Amino acid sequence: MRKPVLAGNWKMNKTRDEAISFVLQVNDKLPKGIDCIVCAPSIILRDVVKRADNLKIGAQNMCEAEKGAYTGEISPLMLKDTNVEYVILGHSERRTMYNETDETVNLKIKKALEVGLKPILCIGETLEEREAAKTEEVLKRQITLDFKGVSFDDPLDVIVAYEPIWAIGTGKSATSAQAEEACGYIRTVLSSIFGPKFAEEIRILYGGSVNTANIGELASQPDIDGGLVGGASLDSGSFLELCHALKTNRKY
Ligand code: 13P
Repeated sequence: MRKPVLAGNWKMNKTRDEAISFVLQVNDKLPKGIDCIVCAPSIILRDVVKRADNLKIGAQNMCEAEKGAYTGEISPLMLKDTNVEYVILGHSERRTMYNETDETVNLKIKKALEVGLKPILCIGETLEEREAAKTEEVLKRQITLDFKGVSFDDPLDVIVAYEPIWAIGTGKSATSAQAEEACGYIRTVLSSIFGPKFAEEIRILYGGSVNTANIGELASQPDIDGGLVGGASLDSGSFLELCHALKTNRKY
């Protein structure tokens, strides 16, 4: 049985004080038996890591290079040095606003694994692609290119998040059936690349307007191991509710 994951992506939100107060509020109220992760802005990662207890911490992006002339970038070695465990890679906001390609995402995944960070890879289609019935084609292409030449010692070293772009920040979540269909398909593609054992063990999340009202139904789908949550992860009470609801509803 796969351990469920509730990962909050704070995006560009929270000051240092707000982040610390969040961590102190959730620390001793998190459910056991699931991985609760917060991906915080890089400038406050050290403050958050220092205070996190059962909460796991991730970054939201990193450079594919370790060091050098990359003004404004975040080095994977610096993230590692800050003791974060996870790093979101290939988020659609990075792909669309900052021109990240499958090639750069691929380099970042390789580098993250090399330095001992666990990537949370985000993939997903646009509304136009869904309406043109291209969802599976897009997911397959992203998985194939983003994981090209990557080998894993352990399926738990990576998480894949299915985040349809049309559902992010729109209040319009995919239905649990749509999300399950896509996550199941992702598992099938991963099985064809890395083998059935890997595909059975890797955690696959759904992201896109997840909230306290829909997490239960999403989490009760066989191939959805949890959520990658933006807006609803910002409030500590809502984050705790999501974590507990995930644990209660995840039966697979
Ligand atoms: P929302 O939950 O705000 O739709 O954001 C989803 C997301 O992009 C998480 O990475």
